[in-house]
Amino acid sequence: MKENPIGVFDSGVGGLTVLREITRQLPGEKTIYLGDTARVPYGIKSRETVVRYSLEVAAFLSKLGIKLLVVACNTASAYALTELTKRLSIPVVGVIEPGAKAALRATRTNRIGIIGTQGTIRSNSYVDEINSLKRNETREVAERGEKHFDRYFEIRTDEMVIFTKACPLFVPLAEEGWTANDVARLTVEHYLKGLNEEKIDTLVLGCTHYPLLKETIASVMGKDVALIDSAESTAVEVKRVLKERGLLNDSPDKATHRFFVTDSPERFLMVGKRFFGEGLEAAELAELEAP
Ligand code: DGL
Repeated sequence: MKENPIGVFDSGVGGLTVLREITRQLPGEKTIYLGDTARVPYGIKSRETVVRYSLEVAAFLSKLGIKLLVVACNTASAYALTELTKRLSIPVVGVIEPGAKAALRATRTNRIGIIGTQGTIRSNSYVDEINSLKRNETREVAERGEKHFDRYFEIRTDEMVIFTKACPLFVPLAEEGWTANDVARLTVEHYLKGLNEEKIDTLVLGCTHYPLLKETIASVMGKDVALIDSAESTAVEVKRVLKERGLLNDSPDKATHRFFVTDSPERFLMVGKRFFGEGLEAAELAELEAP
């Protein structure tokens, strides 16, 4: 089992940012990536549809013998993680919890912004996750009776102030490679102007594509706002889960990476290079079936 690959899936190319981070932090692990390019975007679809798509993809990857599934797509994590965890016998890691944890570590003022697709924002998953982590942290510290008790206890859950905003045009901009030109800047300004006025100190980039616009977003938000990209913390979580279950691959063989798509691979290979860098040379066509 240790030598089995990690499965990573996304609605398209975006999840390659998460895969890149996993391969960087876990260079010995084999991976299989699936981009559901025939049905992208997930971000504007209903919960029922995204859950159905996610179960089909998970069934395909499970048949290839993956030892852990990473749901790299924020929208699929927001809508389908519970169902996937219930149905699969392997561990499932989404991007919402690692992103929420990273946001809580970064914030000093408890004023956090979340941006993502319409589905992710509508689901309220990041807000729920942040609030529940904060509640647990407050309770645990209170129960342990630590000396910081008072300080933590003062920060009550209802004092977290979270602002959310869907930024649907960021996805096509990132895919087009328009991440730092005038159009990108105007679009970022248009979506984020309101958040900027709310004096947040942390902004969660809650979509696979947004890290590509990081520089433009940073220049609009200013240097005092920490930008959270969940790819890094998701890879840390993958490592933690594998270790905990005794599934880390310690074989000296060179790790291999397979890529699947549900539509013809040309565009995936061309656009994917921007997200993954070198090492994305070929992709196979996947035929998905209802599980
Ligand atoms: N991968 C999606 C996400 O992170 C963005 C693209 C889409 O809408 O499918 O939410």
